[in-house]
Amino acid sequence: MSEMRLAEKIGQLVMVTAGTPVTGPVAAGDPTSGVRDGRIGSLLNLWGTEATAAMQAIAVGESRLGIPLFFGFDVVHGHRTVFPIPLGEAAAFDPDLWEATARTAAEEAAADGIDLTFAPMIDVARDPRWGRMAEGPGEDPLVASRMAAAKVRGFQGTSLADPRSVAATAKHFVAYGAPAAGRDYATVDLSERTLREVYLPPFAAAVRAGAAAVMPAFNIAGVPMTAHVPLLRDWLRGELGFEGVLVSDYNAVGELRTHGVAADLAEAAALALTAGIDIDMMSPAYEQGLPEALDRGLVTLADIDAAVRRVLALKERLGLFDAPTRRQQARGTGVPSARRERAREAARRSIVLLKNDGGILPLPRTIGRIAVVGPLAEARADMLGPWWGAGDRTTPVTVIEGLRAALPDAVIAPVTTDPDAAADPTAPDLRTADLVVLCLGETAAMSGEAASRADPGLPDGQRALADAVLASGRPVVVLLSSGRPLIAPWLFNTFPCVLAAWFLGHQAGHAIADVLTGHADATGRLPVTWPRAVGQIPIHAGDRPSGRPASPDDPYTSRYLDVSVAPQFPFGHGLSFAEIAIAGVEVGDPDGLAGGPYTFRAGDAVDIRVRLENRGGRGGEETVFLFLRDPVASVARPQLELKDFARIGLAPGDRGVLRFRLAADAFAFPGPDLAPRTEPGDFEICVGRSADPDGLIRTRVRLTA
Ligand code: BGC
Repeated sequence: MSEMRLAEKIGQLVMVTAGTPVTGPVAAGDPTSGVRDGRIGSLLNLWGTEATAAMQAIAVGESRLGIPLFFGFDVVHGHRTVFPIPLGEAAAFDPDLWEATARTAAEEAAADGIDLTFAPMIDVARDPRWGRMAEGPGEDPLVASRMAAAKVRGFQGTSLADPRSVAATAKHFVAYGAPAAGRDYATVDLSERTLREVYLPPFAAAVRAGAAAVMPAFNIAGVPMTAHVPLLRDWLRGELGFEGVLVSDYNAVGELRTHGVAADLAEAAALALTAGIDIDMMSPAYEQGLPEALDRGLVTLADIDAAVRRVLALKERLGLFDAPTRRQQARGTGVPSARRERAREAARRSIVLLKNDGGILPLPRTIGRIAVVGPLAEARADMLGPWWGAGDRTTPVTVIEGLRAALPDAVIAPVTTDPDAAADPTAPDLRTADLVVLCLGETAAMSGEAASRADPGLPDGQRALADAVLASGRPVVVLLSSGRPLIAPWLFNTFPCVLAAWFLGHQAGHAIADVLTGHADATGRLPVTWPRAVGQIPIHAGDRPSGRPASPDDPYTSRYLDVSVAPQFPFGHGLSFAEIAIAGVEVGDPDGLAGGPYTFRAGDAVDIRVRLENRGGRGGEETVFLFLRDPVASVARPQLELKDFARIGLAPGDRGVLRFRLAADAFAFPGPDLAPRTEPGDFEICVGRSADPDGLIRTRVRLTA
């Protein structure tokens, strides 16, 4: 630090893109001279062993102080091997899987010279109009928190200096998932209570898991997040004790001018640095504006030094001062077939069987002719979804290929896969098919960043295609690809069998065939409430009850004149081929008072046993959700608060037990003054296979003072 000139210090705070992919308005030039001059401290979008090693050689060998660069990249759901989109992977409700896929991605990215990923994306999202719902964990803060911790563990491993680990960036801080009207980059306006109950906990989980970096969101809550002192400096750095690096989003520091809070680059740079942003990604603000901000007295040298120290500390933790190309040299990515198998497992565990009336699935092994219809049947590149990292877009397995591999004796005929062509219901392949697999949904480009949709239903023309297929009279299985729940009540009313197939990654077709043929049970469960109308948005299981809960008999209740308040499918919904039922729930000490509710004292944990039975003829798996409901408190509590979830596999006829423990803090909530508190009284422990209120088993417990 003592040897560094001001321009070199500022250089450590500047990140620019190399290569072509950019997600913002600034076109990238060649960063080589900036690296050589010490004006750039890190790059994004440059990957590959040779390319990164060559650039690192310039930084280390040709810049005055020889400070190594670090290389950042969006390894959002896979690097070379692309896994399901995070919203799909969330449906697996499996933190071990979430960690394992991040580990594989980290190993592949590190071998390509990447030191830091801009992931995990842990934005709670309750609005399917927002296309970035695809990149995150869905609606629930507990799921988001578990996913945050699992992904950070997976990316970072036990040490950042491990050449197969990459630094994780928890993003986008905070409440980016709640933009007004679902429009990307729009304003967000929510209460501090909702912030503390819903949007901050996943970031607390990521920081506790050791996330090396945090990226503030593009959004604005009065003050843009990139300049938000109370949230960045007071909460994240102060209350939570985050000591890592804050890296801005793409051009976000410069955009403080368009937000209307900075008159020029010097003011923009000063606002961001004062809020605690260490690295300016792709805006000219730090490079051009900080020297002037210093001259004008808007920032101090101590502010700049503190940021530089954090960036250098990250480089040190990454082991870059010891061995600047340690990741490139290690090249440790494991066995390709193991990575493929992991991607296939993640993909099949992400699939959610939404409807299976009449037990169309699983398909009989002897099935003769299958017609595969629709624009997603052979949409190879689309299978990867909106972020494909360094994944090869020519190698994903399509639905048709997956079915052909799984059913070599069947005749599998594509009927019409042209998105603009209607199917002819009298086409011979359709008329003679034993089954039609109808592949509908969004293209990958319809979700992700800058892909908000005011009307997130099926794209134009797909309804006509579906009607034509229906007119053929053949049994139909609908596969829905999407980065969000698609609003299409007509589809769910008409077709007996529908699966949510999200964007499943490289192994999509094989995973789909695994589930359709029953080679694997259908185990995915919805991490988001699926609306039946755009007007229901935002919709989620954790709503508060209202003084006038919806009632069909009373007009003056919280409901709509034109549509039910019930979702199309509740949070947690998903069918299995196995018939695993909850046979009973026992709470607390079995020797507790007979007759009355189980009673416990503040500070005690509560044990819950859920007994399950497989009552059908197939082995399989069930997911059990444990919700809490606090019926009377000083602050109205949500109808359901998810506190835990777990899965069990059972063979036909088998019984098993899932044990949960609710720790004392599970009963706490932010009180009227927003400080955490626990209030004595009764609670309901609600156990079920989804958030469907009719399927919950409720047990009352009593917390004494
Ligand atoms: C996105 C971030 C991403 C960054 C770098 C931005 O537009 O909002 O999620 O990490 O670009 O690619």
